[in-house]
Amino acid sequence: MRQNRHMLLPEPLVLDTPRLTLRPYTSGDLAAVHGFASDRRLTEYVEWGPNTFQDSRDFLAACRAEEQQDPRRAYTFALTVPDGGAGVRSGPFGSVGLTVDGAGAGEVGYVLAAERWGQGYATEAAAAVVGFGFTVLDLDRITATCRPGNTASSRVLEETGMVLEARLPAHKLIRGRREDSLLYAISPS
Ligand SMILES: CC(C)(COP(=O)(O)OP(=O)(O)OC[C@H]1O[C@@H](n2cnc3c(N)ncnc32)[C@H](O)[C@@H]1OP(=O)(O)O)[C@@H](O)C(=O)NCCC(=O)NCCS
Repeated sequence: MRQNRHMLLPEPLVLDTPRLTLRPYTSGDLAAVHGFASDRRLTEYVEWGPNTFQDSRDFLAACRAEEQQDPRRAYTFALTVPDGGAGVRSGPFGSVGLTVDGAGAGEVGYVLAAERWGQGYATEAAAAVVGFGFTVLDLDRITATCRPGNTASSRVLEETGMVLEARLPAHKLIRGRREDSLLYAISPS
């Protein structure tokens, strides 16, 4: 059933929020992706990055590949602002992703260009993807983890309605150091 739903997804798969258009990445997004993903400020609490140019290329290739998976296991959206009728599509300034395990559970993650922090964009994007996971993919649980020092990410998850369930000791290897994670989760209301 879930697999059939995946196959019926519209292409391109686009989610609209009050201020954002979440769309698939394209090969033309390389410069924009590398612009934010090579910024050290974004990578303090995450396993990846800062990206080399090849890392950014590989990221976009992985995004394209996930669209071909059957059943699909990952959905990565580029965060853009709508063109406002001017016909000019803005470049992506962040990503929000949802991975699914095929058994009803998903995990969400996000990153945003530092210039756009503090404007509620990550919360808006995460909420849209959680809604997509429940209403379109029929998931029954969505989780996320963040490092305990990543206050902004904890706030995003709390604002999205996720609940702190546990602290996972030495959960992620971040630049050679084992770091704890906070595990957040939400089920459909
Ligand atoms: C985490 C991240 C996505 C948050 O993006 P954002 O768009 O700034 O988040 P929002 O504007 O939606 O803000 C959410 C909350 O975090 C707070 N916040 C934002 N930046 C913050 C900061 N540097 N320190 C503390 N709190 C911060 C906001 O005030 C808001 O709190 P509120 O709801 O109480 O007002 C962004 O900081 C980022 O990309 N960080 C690097 C990558 C990363 O850590 N990803 C998450 C991995 S788990």
